[in-house]
Amino acid sequence: MKNANIVLVGFMGTGKTTVGRIVADRLGRELVDMDTIIEERETRAISDIFAQDGEPYFRDLERALTQELAGRQNLVITAGGGIVLNPDNIRDFSVTGLVVCLRADPDEILRRVQAEDHRPLLENGDKANRIRDILADRQPLYDAIAHQIDTTSLSPEGTAREIVRIFLSATE
Ligand code: S3P
Repeated sequence: MKNANIVLVGFMGTGKTTVGRIVADRLGRELVDMDTIIEERETRAISDIFAQDGEPYFRDLERALTQELAGRQNLVITAGGGIVLNPDNIRDFSVTGLVVCLRADPDEILRRVQAEDHRPLLENGDKANRIRDILADRQPLYDAIAHQIDTTSLSPEGTAREIVRIFLSATE
């Protein structure tokens, strides 16, 4: 279990990537950001993948990468917000890793993603409404994950500290 992957999931804007980097640094582990790997392998941005080939194509890439990464050890993995849409992904990651869900209030998520334009699912329509709608659809999927951290009023360092604490107590 000491070699178990640490897998961060959660809605867009909950801090997975920033926090994942800190956790990986603290534990001296490799950080694998799934969206970054997919973009590198496809040599195009996530928004272009969605626009050119559609969301199901992206979800297939995400699924294949999950199976690949679940077969490795000692990683800190940051998943895209939609990883929970296929329950097989969470099941596979849970076999070889500790899955932690980051959360944040919708207003805080909006504040964090407001100025950004690289998330295709938030680009059509009013961002606040899109966040509320998608979050409402996915809430039961996020809620089903055993370890939850509300990052609304935590710093990335504070969130990282909590993840390391959960990891160490799970691997003792
Ligand atoms: C998505 C979240 C994004 C990215 C893609 C789809 C989602 O990742 O995978 O735009 O469905 O929630 P982040 O959560 O890192 O923004």
